[in-house]
Parts: sequence; structure tokens; C-alpha cells
Amino acid sequence: MKQIFEFDAVEIDNEGNFIKIVDQTKLPNQLSFLNITKEEELVDAILHLKVRGAPALGIAAAAGICVVLNNLNISTVEGYIAGFMRLFDIIISVRPTAVNVRNGLERMKRKALEIRESCGNNLTLFKETLLAEAIAIKDEDIKANLRIAQFGLSLLKPKSTVLTYCNAGHLAVSKYGTALAPIYLAKERGMEIKVIACETRPLLQGARLTTYELQYAGVDVTLICDNMVADVMSRGEVDAIITGADRIAVNGDTANKIGTQTLAVVAKHFGIPHYIAAPSSTIDIRCKTGKDIVIEERAAKEITELHFKSRMAPKGIKPYNPAFDITPSSLITSIITENGIYSAPYDFKN
Ligand code: MRU
Repeated sequence: MKQIFEFDAVEIDNEGNFIKIVDQTKLPNQLSFLNITKEEELVDAILHLKVRGAPALGIAAAAGICVVLNNLNISTVEGYIAGFMRLFDIIISVRPTAVNVRNGLERMKRKALEIRESCGNNLTLFKETLLAEAIAIKDEDIKANLRIAQFGLSLLKPKSTVLTYCNAGHLAVSKYGTALAPIYLAKERGMEIKVIACETRPLLQGARLTTYELQYAGVDVTLICDNMVADVMSRGEVDAIITGADRIAVNGDTANKIGTQTLAVVAKHFGIPHYIAAPSSTIDIRCKTGKDIVIEERAAKEITELHFKSRMAPKGIKPYNPAFDITPSSLITSIITENGIYSAPYDFKN
């Protein structure tokens, strides 16, 4: 895989002393990094979207829990496990919709309990084995992205224009990203694929992050406001839509950034395919349909005052600010994972 970026959204120190994240709240104006070593820093980074995007959150949670514990004065394996369980409960609830957080932490918990006996009193071995598991989660994600890129690109015609939403690229995952993975692969192969990025209210991940990373990679990208999607589709300017996912139910209903459903409805009207690109770790076998997916509600100020010089809504206004919505599987053309391209009726086992 070609190295397009010199940095990853989440880098894990091999000694397990810190994780280094890109502070995504500072982009596009400033590319700066934060070293996370403490519990407060980890919770703050996740809560305030300094690190964000479902797979990146999963990696940050899994590796973050290790580095936080490694920096505490813990002297026994049992003490480490007790600390792990406490942090597990805290971190898992910070961003509830992104299933990669739960999956990453549960995988770490299984590993911790599996090696508890074999490590005996060897705390160093215990810590190293857990850190290796977190690094494996990241490595597997990177491999999955390349496969998603290949499958995704097979669905695109040369010179296509792809519309995307929020940020499901390098900054949200690692290397290729998910929704943007076919775009980066096309770029590497010298294929001309253009991108239309929606700004993505209220936190503007599309305007701030997707345009930033595509421009960085030399991809032709045009920024539009969210309320322009029907217009560009009606003009025949969009060949396909590719978005990411925070959680996919067994029937294919997909939680992604609020507004994804709107795109899917409009795309259906205009006969444009809407693909979801996500690693299989985003499929939640505990959720039969989208109704089982918990939707995170975010702070009111994100829609009333953030990103503007002065308030843009009256004080006391009633806010409704869900971070995600559910796109019913009936509006999704296909779901692309590292294991293949799936369509309804979904059977992710095959
Ligand atoms: O609130 P965010 O910025 O974490 O939301 C991110 C998205 O909705 C992404 O599209 C999703 O996590 C997929 S990331 C590969």
C-alpha cells in the first residue's frame, strides 16, 4: 500500500507509553498532534472528536486504555485488570454509536482474561501482550481498508464522480480509510475519479476533514453544502455515493453521520447507487435491525453556536442534535466490507 500521508490518525507507541493522535478539531487550519497518556486526555479526545470516525475510535480506545494503565503505578496483573475494567465502563459510553469502540474494548477484555493465568505475576508480559492486541486491531483495519478499496473500485466506472459525506477517510480510519478507500486506490492507479464532499453539519467533518485529506492527496474535490445534494444529483453530476458506517445491523440498516439517510432517499429518487463502505468489525450481530442501534445525542452548542463568531440561534432554543441516523437497508445499494460486496437480503456470513 502506497504511503500517501506521513501520519496516521492514531499512532501507537511501541513501548506502550502514549498514543499520538491528530487533533482533528484543529483541522484544516493546523495539523497538530496530541500525545495521550492519561485517562482525562483520552476521554476528552474521544468526547470532543479530537479523534473520531468509528475505526479510529476503536483503535484509540483499545490502545488508549493500555497507555493510560501503563502510566499508572500498578504493580500486579490483578491490579491492572481491575483498572482495565473501570476504564472499560467509562470509555465504552463516551461515543455509544460507533460499535468499533465496543468491539475493540471487548476484544481487549477477552485477551486480558485469556492471558491472566498464563502471565501469572509477570506484569510486563501481560502489558506487552495486551498492547500487541491493540496494535493487531489497527493492522487488521489497515488490511481491511485495502480490500474495501479494491471491491469499491470495482463498482466505479472510470471518470466517475463520487459524492461522500462526513469523513470516512484516512483521518477516520488508517491509511486508505473506508468510503474514501476506492478513491485513493483509483488515484494510485492513475484513474480520474472526482469527489463531491458534503460539508456535514453541525461539526463540518466534510468541509474541514474530507476536503483537507483529499486535497492533500491531490484528488479533485468539490465542497458543497448539505442542502445542495438534490441539486447536484438532479444535474447528473453524481455517479455514485459512498459513505462510511458507525454500526451496521444484521439486516443491513446502517447508522452513519446524521444526514446519510437524506442522501440515500434523494439518491434513490434519482436512481444513483448508494454504497456503504465499512470493515466487517462495524457489523453488530447484536443488532437485528437499525431499531436496536443506540443513537448518540450531542451537545446543543454544536448546533447553536459552534464554528460561528457569534451565536446563530436564540438563547433558550430547544435543540435536537443526534449525531447519527439510520439508513434503512432498502435504500442501500450494497455494503462493501473487506470480505466482499453484499446486497439485500444480507447474509454477512457468506
Ligand atoms: O461523529 P463522527 O465524526 O465520529 O462521525 C463519523 C462518521 O459518521 C463516519 O462516517 C463513520 O464513523 C465512518 S468512519 C470510517
